[in-house]
Amino acid sequence: MPDRAESSAIESGLHERRLFSPAPEFAERAHVRTLDEYRALHKRSIEDPEGFWAEAAGHLEWFSPWKKVLEWKAPDAKWFVGATTNLCHNCVDRHVKDGHGDETAVIWEGEPMQPAGPETAHITYADLQRETAKFGNVLKSLGVRKGDVVTIYMPMIPELAVAVLACARIGAVHSVIFGGFSASAIADRVHDAKSRVIVTADGGWRRGKIVPLKDNVDAACTQIDTIDHVVVVQRTGEQTVWHAKPSDSHGGKRDHWWHDLMAAADENCPCEHMDSEDPLFVLYTSGTTGKPKGILHTTGGYMVQTALTAKVVFDLKPGEDVYWCTADLGWVTGHSYIVYGVMPNRVPTLMYEGAPDYPDKDRFWSIVARHKVSKFYTAPTAIRAFMKWGEEHPKKHDLSSLRVLGTVGEPINPEAWMWYHRVIGAERCPIVDTWWQTETGGHMITPLPGATPTKPGSCTLPFFGVDAAIVNDQGEEQPLNSGGLLAIRRPWPSMLRGILGDRQRFIDTYWSRIRNDKGEPYYFAGDGARRDEDGYFWIMGRVDDVINVSGHRLGTMEVESALVSHEAVVEAAVVGMPHEIKGTGIAAFVTLAPGFEASEALRTALRAHVGEEIGAIAKPDQIRFAEAVPKTRSGKIMRRLLRDIAAGRADTGDTTTLEDFSVLAKLRESEES
Ligand code: PRX
Repeated sequence: MPDRAESSAIESGLHERRLFSPAPEFAERAHVRTLDEYRALHKRSIEDPEGFWAEAAGHLEWFSPWKKVLEWKAPDAKWFVGATTNLCHNCVDRHVKDGHGDETAVIWEGEPMQPAGPETAHITYADLQRETAKFGNVLKSLGVRKGDVVTIYMPMIPELAVAVLACARIGAVHSVIFGGFSASAIADRVHDAKSRVIVTADGGWRRGKIVPLKDNVDAACTQIDTIDHVVVVQRTGEQTVWHAKPSDSHGGKRDHWWHDLMAAADENCPCEHMDSEDPLFVLYTSGTTGKPKGILHTTGGYMVQTALTAKVVFDLKPGEDVYWCTADLGWVTGHSYIVYGVMPNRVPTLMYEGAPDYPDKDRFWSIVARHKVSKFYTAPTAIRAFMKWGEEHPKKHDLSSLRVLGTVGEPINPEAWMWYHRVIGAERCPIVDTWWQTETGGHMITPLPGATPTKPGSCTLPFFGVDAAIVNDQGEEQPLNSGGLLAIRRPWPSMLRGILGDRQRFIDTYWSRIRNDKGEPYYFAGDGARRDEDGYFWIMGRVDDVINVSGHRLGTMEVESALVSHEAVVEAAVVGMPHEIKGTGIAAFVTLAPGFEASEALRTALRAHVGEEIGAIAKPDQIRFAEAVPKTRSGKIMRRLLRDIAAGRADTGDTTTLEDFSVLAKLRESEES
């Protein structure tokens, strides 16, 4: 008899081999209808990328045309060279101009549940045009100029979409920080981006509690003194302490209410003509070393790829769809697939403020049913939580409006895929498992819902214009079904243009590891993957020291630095470990300073400390106290060994390079939390 783990592995192997074809009635109305059509278009897009992307760009509005589609001098790409456009224009103003001003652009739902139901809002394109114009003028009145970085640290409320689009409108570069990050994380990012203005709220609702966003901003401002203005949306009515900054033009005020500034703002603020390669936003993400890096995205290419992928991958159709991506706008998924890719397609995008289990575990399904959501995009970690909570929650609601289901952020285990397909999709909705990254800006490897037969756990085939391959360090393609590095061999429009202020790190991280026989670099994604006999891609996970916790990227070194910044810790080693809901959990091995004793209280204090340094998502699931962290003779932390210990695997492999075998014995003895 196979044991439970074995039968689950066998079952998962069986799922992986199943092929799910799009239903004919869905496929025949889809933007791309057959696998042959996909293959023909993909072939064309690879043979003539410039022709392909120029045609895609033609569906968006430009103020002046490009002289050249692509200029590529590795690792620098310029797309739609010389053209001017504006993202806010394409998301908002364009639809008003074309007579759609009264249509809904954003459907918003707040978390608190009143007896009459939750607070909701329908915001039209005309509303958004007015509000982004006014807030654009507010930013200008605070001294923000084209190219300046505006930091945004807000809950998922309509003003967040307004703030982001207002930046795009006036050519300011936004840096959105996820509301779950701590004051120290805000300070690091503000400092790195040299940002002078922060937009925030008095608080946001999460699971019935108030997240003290303004207090976190105030605490960040005690660590940096460059912030001149803080604009505060009144969301919760929470008391906030008001601060002044005497040197400034606004009567000595540092803090301002959003509604006061908006009441005085002019409604006339034309969209700035942005060069295609002008920066649009910077978004911080974790890497293998050091602090999170500011990934820089620009205007034209990003707009074209996010708009086309949103249209084709979610099969968006104006007048038919209601689209909901459950991500927070603080992640790239929110940037590209709540705002920038979706809105040019003139399909309402839903924003929900709160938690999936508030007040009950059926909240998401009640939202789907009430707003008749047709396209739904979420993360495997959420799906695993839904599975655990039970089928009775979705079963309470009418989910028949759903047409396409999406997933992103981490590999989806075939069991979760099958559950999503059966319970949420009623075995009727195609699932699009989209592989991409903060750096890629938009979808890279993904099924097209009307065209690509899917296999549970595979992100299937590359998007148009994407030349993805499984290679070794020399850029040689690996045989089918043997693992290798996931590489992108040619530039794509929404690729990152750099790391803010760190050219060398940009080159070292992405463009140095893989070179072909001509010495040309390929983009190194940091993921291991394989291709099967049908050419389908299977992502195997990160090959570097980045871990993916609930679909959120964290550098193990970042968590280690947070731990050693506590007075009790002299050394820390952090690794990922399997976790039922999070996919990967965090295990930390710490060595204590003299005078500190291992205890439950210290464990709690260390977890809280990491929460303060980074944010709650980085709190270790396991902390083990060890006399020393095991290292090789050359001083490298033996992460494989630590991973095996954290996962509870008996065989810890070959440890003969261990400097001190007793360390291993001590680690095994130590208790986990
Ligand atoms: O390891 C891959 C995983 O998430 C990483 C990118 O993380 P981030 O930049 O935070 O962006 C997440 C949202 C786009 C990748 O290197 N990843 C993302 N999508 C998938 C995935 N792994 C497997 N399957 C996916 N669909």
